[in-house]
Amino acid sequence: MSDTSSSPVWRTWPYPRIVSHRGGGKLAPENTLAALEMGASLGLHMVEFDAKLSADNVVFLLHDDTVDRTSDGHGAAAGMTYAEIERLDAGSWFDARFAGQKMPTLAQVAERCHALGLAANVEIKPCPGRELETGRLVAEAVRQLWAGQAVRPLLSSFSYEALEAAAAAAPELPRGMLYEAVPAHWRDDARKLGTVSLHASHRHLDGPQVAEIKAYGLQMLVYTVNDPARARELAAWGVDAICTDRIDLIGDDFLAAG
Ligand code: G3P
Ligand code: MG
Repeated sequence: MSDTSSSPVWRTWPYPRIVSHRGGGKLAPENTLAALEMGASLGLHMVEFDAKLSADNVVFLLHDDTVDRTSDGHGAAAGMTYAEIERLDAGSWFDARFAGQKMPTLAQVAERCHALGLAANVEIKPCPGRELETGRLVAEAVRQLWAGQAVRPLLSSFSYEALEAAAAAAPELPRGMLYEAVPAHWRDDARKLGTVSLHASHRHLDGPQVAEIKAYGLQMLVYTVNDPARARELAAWGVDAICTDRIDLIGDDFLAAG
């Protein structure tokens, strides 16, 4: 993906309008390389995924605090080394076709994103109590792994502390605060964190709130929008990016198609 516009907004927000949630939405085991490949194979140009630290500080992909739901292992990821995590099967729980998929390192993910031409929303998802190290180490890793790429990943997190640590470690990386429902203090968060975007669940949003956030100067990403009619409504309100599980229904050209 090339960034050829001279517009300042384009430089900080070079992202497509549709983002594949957890790599491949509901069509592949979440947060795996197979998920990225699924997203790319359906024509997506941007993926969201969840990044955290193993006990030995390797940045890898996993949504939950434990490995139980999305692998054949058990227990808290925070207590496992990456060598232990890497031995787990993160594909069979979803479908036997994906047996042998791993929880990939961020380095493996970066390489695959470069090869597939995928922009990335790296959601920093710290294990409890590891917010600061996770924010710092993910940001440092992103800076290094995407060096020289035209489009830098967009960092986001539900954790203010993690995003603050990411901002301190790599201030040049674009970031967005992530909320379930947008709180009253969203402007303070945006100012203090120097964010370019606000990310929120679409469930609690209405048109006037989107207009207020846009008028303040933030881009908006909403999750997880799986109904095409709702996606169109949100886009009409001015939302910039829609994160979806249903990349089979809400594809890269969904909004362009009218
Ligand atoms: O980043 C958007 C979305 O992924 C946040 O929710 O729980 O799916 O990580 P979750
Ligand atoms: Mg996420």
